[in-house]
Formats: sequence, structure tokens, C-alpha cells
Amino acid sequence: MKKELKIPRIKDGTVIDHITPGNAVKVLRILRIPRSTSSVVSVAINVKSHLGKKDIVKVENRELDPHEVDKIALIAPKATINIIRDYEVAEKHRVRLPDEITGIVTCSNPTCVSNANEPVKSRFRVINSDPPRIKCYYCEREPEDISERII
Ligand code: CTP
Ligand code: ZN
Repeated sequence: MKKELKIPRIKDGTVIDHITPGNAVKVLRILRIPRSTSSVVSVAINVKSHLGKKDIVKVENRELDPHEVDKIALIAPKATINIIRDYEVAEKHRVRLPDEITGIVTCSNPTCVSNANEPVKSRFRVINSDPPRIKCYYCEREPEDISERII
């Protein structure tokens, strides 16, 4: 007898796989999936994978935009994004942080020019991708908990 009950495969949508264990809820927040969602969403936390543990998020009838993928890369650098069409994996991408990220994380320095009431977009240099580390382009401040600063 098979002892595991796997989360069902989906027909159409996106599977975010190999999420850093424990970070699935942050991925749901990035995808702005509210409590009141009418989409079918499955979440697995701390499931066994070939290299230790991982989380998985499956969202039916949804494809991600590039901003969402960059945000996921900031909290789950090993994630893969699988686009499912008619039950097949139509596309598979490893997330990859660009060298610079603009407009998706706010600087933790209250006096940073990017936090003033000026039309200056936040801008960070990516100094490490796994674990993700970023440094403000304007004030050099490195946010301690990136996930708390994602817009
Ligand atoms: N998946 C799904 N529904 C489908 C097809 C795939 O939910 N109709 C999920 C699988 O359960 C898996 C992920 O999408 O979590 C990627 O599928 P696949 O590429 O078939 O699995 P692997 O080869 O194990 O992926 P990887 O090499 O990225 O670990
Ligand atoms: Zn700054």
C-alpha cells in the first residue's frame, strides 16, 4: 500500500517547486492570494525531496508575471516555476535574481533618498543570490529580513 498522499497534479496553472522549506506562506503573500480566494491552491510544507526538505505551491489557472518571479527569487532562490498546460509541464524555469532589483523591495533606512517623498524608485544591487543578499544602491544599507520589505 502506498503510504503517501501526494498533492494532486493540476490541469492548468503554475507549480512553484523547490521552495525553501517554510517559505510557502511568503510565496502566497507575494502572489497576493487572499483568504477569500476562489482559485484552487494547494500548499505543501516541509515535504521530502531528493535534497532534504522543500515547500510546494500549486495555483490553478494562473501564470506569474516577471515581477512576481523576482520576488520569489528573493525568498526561495532554488525555486522552479513550472507552467502547466493540459496536465503537461509546458515550461520550467529556475528563478534567477537579476543583478539589480528596482521597485520591489523598500530600503530599511528611513532616511534613505528612496524613502523620501521624491520620485526615486528603490534600487538594490544583488550581492549574493543564495542566500539572497541585497544592498541599497543609494545608501548601501542591507535589509536584515528581505521578506519583510517586499512590496
Ligand atoms: N505537476 C503538477 N501537475 C502537473 C504536472 C506537474 O502539479 N500536471 C508538478 C509536479 O508534481 C512537480 C512539478 O509540477 O512538483 C514539476 O513536475 P515535473 O517536471 O514532472 O517533476 P520533476 O521532474 O520532479 O521536476 P524537477 O526536476 O524540477 O524536480
Ligand atoms: Zn537605501
